[in-house]
This record gives sequence, structure tokens and C-alpha cells, in this order.
Amino acid sequence: MPDAARYDDAADFYAAGWTDTVDDPAAVRLLALLEPIAGRRVLEIACGHGRISRALARRGADVVGADLSSALIEKARAAERASPLGIQYIHADVAAPGIPGVSGLFDAVVCSFGLSDIDDLEGAIAGAARALKTGGVFACSILHPCFPGGQGVSGSWPGDGRYHTEGWWRADGELSSLRRQVGANHRTLSTYVNTFRRHGLWLEEMAEPEPAPDWAAKRSDAAKFPVFLVMRCVKQDDDRTSRSLPS
Ligand SMILES: C[S@@+](CC[C@H](N)C(=O)[O-])C[C@H]1O[C@@H](n2cnc3c(N)ncnc32)[C@H](O)[C@@H]1O
Repeated sequence: MPDAARYDDAADFYAAGWTDTVDDPAAVRLLALLEPIAGRRVLEIACGHGRISRALARRGADVVGADLSSALIEKARAAERASPLGIQYIHADVAAPGIPGVSGLFDAVVCSFGLSDIDDLEGAIAGAARALKTGGVFACSILHPCFPGGQGVSGSWPGDGRYHTEGWWRADGELSSLRRQVGANHRTLSTYVNTFRRHGLWLEEMAEPEPAPDWAAKRSDAAKFPVFLVMRCVKQDDDRTSRSLPS
């Protein structure tokens, strides 16, 4: 199991800052790309304390959420006990082959700002593809891999690094509060899209929602660049997957 300590340590900070008011442009677009969702079976990988799982359940989805951090999963379960929405939360590494307690196939798999947190992208995307029905949807939001950052705001890769060098790093921008604590894995855009395709997840729609006006007002130089990336892929049948890109 990968090290969950940095997420456990940041759990109170994260839950206080990222609440159930999911009105930020990336979350709004992610939820829109999953519609129609009522009555659909959805797996959220790297669900954290469950704010997106709850948003999906409130829209009528039947949701399972999985996360590596026991502290965040406990917060998600506590919210479920306080206001039941029928969500099942699982404490697991979503990059492992087979998530314990997750069975059957899903109509959608979603990952909100989690792919850069997951050290083993290949394992996580293989698992997402395995969990999906043919024709099912994989949708994710990430900090845009091409976002260079700005004054006080760390970008997708270290300030003294370069876009093409991938790897885990810890942000140092004073306004990048979460990434200073938990770090992130930088990967190029082509790594993401080619990994999806290797596992039969074909990119169907991309969105680059602009940051909210209050975010942009405090970070006017950074806001000139693409900040968020939201993608929707469709799981192809096995024939088409075998014609996908080589590794
Ligand atoms: C930035 S948080 C996002 C949480 C949630 N998706 C949201 O939008 O609020 C990233 C999450 O990824 C989780 N994570 C990192 N690696 C993981 C792994 N291998 N398996 C499951 N969860 C993982 C962390 O525990 C953390 O909850």
C-alpha cells in the first residue's frame, strides 16, 4: 500500500477547505460531463472525504467511493452516518489489482483531483477500465498538466524544472497550500491520454474551465494560463482496445 500519511495528516485541513459546496468551475464541469447520472452505478476513485461522491448521490447515482487515506475515509463515513445517501466507502489503494469490496461493473468511474495524487497511474487506470461496462464513462479533473503557475502559485511542475520531466514533487508556492503539504505527481498531457487509450478509455470530450473570478483576481498572472483540465472518456470494446497505442 502506498504511503497515506501525508493525506491523513492533511485530512482536517482538506475537509475544512473543500466542502460540499461543489461550485468550483472544475467540479461543476466534471459533474456536467457525467450527466445523465441518476440511477447509474458510479465508482469514485480517490474520493477523499467524499464531497464529489455526495454530490453524485444527491443527483441520484448509486455511489461507491474508495480512498487510500483512513482519516479521509473516516470523515466520509461519518458524513454518511450523519446524513445517509446510500454511499459505500472503501479504504483501499485504487491502483492495486482489484479493489477489495468492489464488485460488479459500473456505468461510470470518476476521479476528481486525484490522478496526480496516485503514484501508480497505470494501475489506477487499469482498475478504472476493469470496473467499467463497455460504453461506460471515465471522467476526471486535474490541475492542467500545462499550467506553469504564477506569483505565489505553483504550477504543475517545479519552478526550477521543466514540463517534460515527470515525477513526484512538493509545491512551494505560498498560495498552493494543499500541494505544499501532499505534493503531486507531474505527468505530461500525452502520458495521461496515452495511458487512458492503452486501457480502452477513449477520450471523447475535454474541457478547460476558467478559474472562478475570485481565484483569478488574487492570481492574475497565473489566471492567464489554462488552470484546470476535465476529461471524459468512453470504455471501448476489447477489439478496439487491442488496436490502441503501444505502451
Ligand atoms: C486532492 S485529494 C481529492 C479528494 C476528492 N477526490 C475531492 O475531490 O475532494 C486526493 C486524494 O487522493 C487520494 N489517493 C492518493 N493515492 C491514492 C491511491 N493510490 N488510492 C486511493 N486514493 C489515493 C488521497 O488519499 C486523497 O484523498
